[in-house]
Formats: sequence, structure tokens, C-alpha cells
Amino acid sequence: MKICFYALREYDELQFCRQMRDKYGIDFTYTTAYPDEKNYALAAGCDGMSCTPCDMSRKVLEAFRNVGVKYILLRSVGYDHVDLEAARELGLKVDTVIYPPTGVADYAIMLMLASVRRFAHILKRAELQDYSLRNKLGRDFSVCTVGVMGTGRIGTTVIQHLSGFGCRILAYDVRENETARKFARYVDRDTLFRESDIITLHMNANDDNYHIISRDAIGKMKQGAYIINTARGKLVDSEALIAGIESGKLGGAALDVVEFENGLYYYDLMGEVMVNPKLAILRSFPNVILSPHTAFYTAEDVSDMVEGNFRSCYEFGTGKKLHGVEFQR
Ligand code: COI
Repeated sequence: MKICFYALREYDELQFCRQMRDKYGIDFTYTTAYPDEKNYALAAGCDGMSCTPCDMSRKVLEAFRNVGVKYILLRSVGYDHVDLEAARELGLKVDTVIYPPTGVADYAIMLMLASVRRFAHILKRAELQDYSLRNKLGRDFSVCTVGVMGTGRIGTTVIQHLSGFGCRILAYDVRENETARKFARYVDRDTLFRESDIITLHMNANDDNYHIISRDAIGKMKQGAYIINTARGKLVDSEALIAGIESGKLGGAALDVVEFENGLYYYDLMGEVMVNPKLAILRSFPNVILSPHTAFYTAEDVSDMVEGNFRSCYEFGTGKKLHGVEFQR
């Protein structure tokens, strides 16, 4: 069996590919480029192709099917970028990966703390020798109410870890779970909007939650609330967010993901014209923290992502389920 890796990072992922090739007896080839018509043929002779989030629409899936690929292996938990219906019609098997939820969960908590303590602003000003206190007043995190939207693996870990800070924790999800219920009170969406000082998003993007943080939702929020997004850009209506920050209704936001980030994030575009105007506006606000979708980026998560693709390829190819630990923790 063989996998063709696209957008493979030679400086961190390649070493894990080599290890997993030996562990699973599955060969691989790779390119550092994202899939496009110039390089679909590279996957000819491979059972699977692997990619990080990028255009996986019907025409791309068709192109891979046409060169003989059978498995679409995602180096991500999220799969909102894949046309699953097309994949099914084309007879392609698709699989995501699982990695420990702690990396993203702790990053979200870091963004919460940085937001309420105005930490990014304080650091930026200190670099310019502005050591004054004006406009740097923070909030005590432990007296904040945090609303966690989405209580899957990551959201539940956020709740567990937050419990150590003494925050009041509210949770919202269509499916409730016992672990989250130990530390948080499940409420309906409007109650969470109304009562939270900080709202943090931990849901997969789908048609039902597109722009769940809308103008209407922001209107229901507490004066000075903060939005934290480490999930998917599509969950937040950027225009509504900008309006909420400009009007002073929102205290700020920390966004590891933004709408239309594909084609920007993970590229070095230094010195180039910014082609995402809403991102440019958000960047200009002192109370907005932006990071380029790096919440997942730990050695542990990267290793598990690569291994996950080899595991899926093995399971698809042999029809055997691999039991045992999902990741070494
Ligand atoms: C995911 O795993 O879904 C992520 O968001 C991280 C990915 C962009 C590498």
C-alpha cells in the first residue's frame, strides 16, 4: 500500500512519515504543494492521498479518483472542506484523524486569558517601551463566566481544565455528556449568550451552525463579552464581529481561525498584499488576537495526525480494525 502526502511539511511531518512507513509497512511519497491540476498525477499508483484542509470539492475528488486513489486521508479532525456526498458517489473512502484534545483546549484557554488580561496589547506596547497602564486594565479570569459551545472531546477538555481556574462554566450542545456536566451547567444557546463573559467555540462546522455567532447572537450577548474561536472560521460572521467590536458591544476576540483562511494560513506571505479585507480590519483592532490556525500545532498532535493516516490506510486496505491505544497517552 502507498499514500501520497500533499502539503507535507518537511520540517516536522516528514520524520513521522518515515517512522510510520516502517511501523505499518505502508510506503509513501509526498509533495510540499497543495493538490492542484499540476500534481494530481503524483498520486497515481497510490491507494490513498493525504491532505490538510484545502479544496476537496467534487472536481478535486474526481481528479484523484481518476488517477486511481481510493482513500482520502485527512490530516485534520475537521472535514467541513470535503464534499462527502461526492466522495460517496465516487466510491472514495474518507477518514479523519484523532489527536489528543488537550493541545487545542489549552490553546483556547491561553487565548481566553490573553484576551481578558489584554496580554497581546501589553506585550506589543512594551516592545515600544510603553510601560504605562492606560488602556491595559484587565478582568479577573476566575470571576468570569465562560460559555463553551460544543462539548465534544475538545470542548469537554476545556471545561475540565477551566474548572481549576474557578470560573463559572456554562455549556451548550445538542448532545450533552456526563463529564462536562460535572463541571458545567448545560443551558440553551440564548442563556449562554446572555450570561457569558467569554464565549469559546468547539464545534465542527456544518450547515446548521454556519455563522452561529451572528449579528443577532452578538446582540444578545453581555456588554464587553469576548469571542474565542479555535474551531472553524465559518462559525463566526466576521462582518458582525467587526461591527460588534467597533460599537464596543464586544470586549474583544481571539481567533485562531477566520473565514476564508485557506490560501493564506500556512503560507509565508510577508510583503504581499493582504487579500482578506475582513482579516485586515480585525488585525487593526488592539483588542483582537489573531493566530494562523496553530492551536493544534504540538509535536504530539502532528505525530498523531500522520500516524492516523497510516492507520486509516491500513484499516481500509486490510479491512482489519486496529485496536489498542488511539494515541500514546
Ligand atoms: C483540525 O484538525 O481539524 C484542525 O483544525 C487542524 C488542521 C488545520 C491541521
